[in-house]
Amino acid sequence: MTFVDTHSHLYRESYPDNLEEVVQRAVAAGVDKMILGCVNQDTPAQIQEAVALFPQNMYALVGLHPEDTKEDWEAQLESLKNHLDDKQVVGIGEIGLDYYWDRTYEEQQKEVFFRQLCWARDLGLPLSLHIRSAYPDAIAILKQFRPGELSGVMHCFSGGTQEAEWAVNHNFAIGVGGTVTFKNSKVQDIVAHVGLENIVLETDAPYLAPVPHRGKPNESAYIPFIAQKVADIFQVSLQTVADVTTENAYRIFTKLTR
Ligand code: NI
Repeated sequence: MTFVDTHSHLYRESYPDNLEEVVQRAVAAGVDKMILGCVNQDTPAQIQEAVALFPQNMYALVGLHPEDTKEDWEAQLESLKNHLDDKQVVGIGEIGLDYYWDRTYEEQQKEVFFRQLCWARDLGLPLSLHIRSAYPDAIAILKQFRPGELSGVMHCFSGGTQEAEWAVNHNFAIGVGGTVTFKNSKVQDIVAHVGLENIVLETDAPYLAPVPHRGKPNESAYIPFIAQKVADIFQVSLQTVADVTTENAYRIFTKLTR
């Protein structure tokens, strides 16, 4: 049984003491492909180190995170642009809008989001979207593109049923992580609503560990806990969840190698 962790941050900065062990535990748990999210111009060097250590297992995203969008956003984008051809790059992310903590750079966030969507369109790369407390604005920007020009994953999905429907009708899968295992999580209803064929698994490690590790550092090795919750929702086997979500991940991230 194998899994793809479609969004994690498995690099030295997150695991200064035990990166190698964390990745080895993931592979031992069947999570043999991990896609590493990029947040700012300092991330590609971190990702390249991880890719060099585990070239069979690690894949990269390139992007400026909405929370890292500040005064220097233009320089950040210029720097990140140079990494679009880096080894193992399979998509653009994590990009989007986040109004949850701070709306100071709301206009810059929108501009940065739009420009990076243009990268994805021009290069034919899928997206890993980070959207929090900003679904209406994010969807308005996505709507500026023609149908079929964009595709990818709504990472750590936290929207409602309508937004989930919009996503799956516009080539976006729903990224399901540790929050689905939390008691009374509304993500469970979203998962049931969109169906297994529209779901990919992710950890966002080291953040958002699933039950029974909630509150502790997350690892890609915990993907099976998330998968088991999804299996319970659909009343199917863990094997079925592994098979379908892995195929979904390969369908979206076409540069991922088997
Ligand atoms: Ni992330």
